[in-house]
Amino acid sequence: MKSIFLLISLLTVIPCVRAQQTDLIANTEGRKTISLDGQWQTIIDPYETGYYDYRYEPSASGSFKNAKPKNKSVLIEYDFDTSGSLKVPGDWNTQEERLLFYEGTIWHKKSFDYQRNANTRLFIYFGAANYLADVYLNGEKIGRHEGGFTPFNFEITKLVRDTGNFLIVKVDNKRRRDAVPTLITDWWNYGGLTRQVKLVETPATFVQDYFIQLQKGSRDRIAGWVKLNGDKLNQRLTIRIPEAKISKSFTTDANGSAEINFNADLTLWSPDNPKLYEVIIEAETDRLQDQIGFRSIETRGTEILLNGRPIFLRGVCIHEEAPFRGGRAYSREDAMTLLGWAKELGANFVRLAHYPHNEFMVREADRLGIMVWSEIPVYWTILWENSATLENAGNQLREMIARDKNRAAVIIWSMANETPLGEARLSFLRNLIERARNLDPSRLISAAMERHYLADKTTQMIDDPLGAYVDVFGCNEYVGWYDGLPEKIDRVEWKMKYQKPLVMTEFGAEAPYGNHGDALTRWTEEYQENVYQHQVRMLKRIPFLRGTCPWILMDFRSPRRPLTGIQDFHNRKGLISDHGEKKKAFYVMQNYYDELKRAAR
Ligand code: GCU
Repeated sequence: MKSIFLLISLLTVIPCVRAQQTDLIANTEGRKTISLDGQWQTIIDPYETGYYDYRYEPSASGSFKNAKPKNKSVLIEYDFDTSGSLKVPGDWNTQEERLLFYEGTIWHKKSFDYQRNANTRLFIYFGAANYLADVYLNGEKIGRHEGGFTPFNFEITKLVRDTGNFLIVKVDNKRRRDAVPTLITDWWNYGGLTRQVKLVETPATFVQDYFIQLQKGSRDRIAGWVKLNGDKLNQRLTIRIPEAKISKSFTTDANGSAEINFNADLTLWSPDNPKLYEVIIEAETDRLQDQIGFRSIETRGTEILLNGRPIFLRGVCIHEEAPFRGGRAYSREDAMTLLGWAKELGANFVRLAHYPHNEFMVREADRLGIMVWSEIPVYWTILWENSATLENAGNQLREMIARDKNRAAVIIWSMANETPLGEARLSFLRNLIERARNLDPSRLISAAMERHYLADKTTQMIDDPLGAYVDVFGCNEYVGWYDGLPEKIDRVEWKMKYQKPLVMTEFGAEAPYGNHGDALTRWTEEYQENVYQHQVRMLKRIPFLRGTCPWILMDFRSPRRPLTGIQDFHNRKGLISDHGEKKKAFYVMQNYYDELKRAAR
């Protein structure tokens, strides 16, 4: 009798993590890949003439056919060979002056040869394409993807030829009211194939996806799953962690899925010791390795616990803007520069705003020991009642989690930023939170939420109803910039309805580097410094504060910032200019973080 009870109690405590149906190849790092980066031939097509006919009907003989006149009398009104090119990865806006403000369609063409090995499959993998991508191979449509900041792939095994393949992608970054994000953002709508494009070869049946992390609330038990894709789905597979002398075998079911669950005595990942283990997944038909860190992250009341110990998130917000050259950042070097500056600031945490950044950012954060807040672009006034908008946001959420769920650095999934209160908004975001918890029960859920003043006009009250459904409360405030002058900050107190940790996810002020004046003159470094000095004092007075993320590490391009000679279409709230020059406010935050580091020892 006792043993049955024990079994039942065991079953109740081990939450099983089910394999997720995504078609995304989780890890292309350990695979045979061919990069298609470089110059792509392009056709700028503002009226989508290469897609629609004059009746605005999709045309069967569009530019995706890459047609050539067979003789002197044939009429073809486009030619990839004579119409210019753009570099991939890269946004088009910063590659040609005439494209800086361009929003619309540009066709991208890449030719390649590929001798596929027998018993293998071939996929075309995109790190991201902003915003709507229609993908064609050798004139055939192979798929469409919506959302500018998450990866996607299509299988081309049956379509690829040994020689003379032409891959054509119609990329359209037009903003739409029902899209995610919607019409207005405070960041530049960089269009294009903004991240790596590569061919990925796999065995006929391969390890398509896996989730290998510590079980929620445990520091010595791994729980997760492995998913095979192919025709030989029932296989034995082994998870090896050689350095920890771990080798565990499992059998996949008829769907190619295996749940994994085993004890593991590991050195836990943390900012002080970002330990990564080589993890090998060996199936009968495939072998894949990854560098994975193991850590637990949870909350207890107003505490955030990393590996069971309270931690303060010394953070900074970052946009995916390339340092020095401007435009969409995409490379390992960009990531190293941005995260290097965050480290210099004393950060152990970064908020990647307001959309999933490229994979180099999260993998470098894993290596450098920087915790990550990753967010989907549910930003400001999304169409809450539109079911297609919800599915779109849900898909971006699924792809974000699918790509980064094995990164120890990622501790928080954020559902939204500064979204207005309302029933439709609440149910939309609750729906996303539920999806996120199903996809990944191991991480914390949050959003950057609203607050309001009480009648006394100096007490900020945090009682956004969404707060009841998140683990960590994120809150943006601009006291001293949009809200009063710096001295007002000294009079502001904070109250919160929830017994949860608060991360101040945005605060700051704006000044172009080198613009000097007295501490009350807007747009000067002294005014910005003044705001930060007051902010730091206020932040120290908030008893439930467990993290800070000043807005923002580096100046970034924004269409909402036209002030000539000051902003020049850049948001100048950076602690560092887009040319890497540190402003006075940088040192205010650096000193504050030094203080916190010393106090934490
Ligand atoms: C908002 C928003 C940011 C924006 C910032 C600003 O809070 O979340 O995207 O850039 O404020 O106004 O500078």
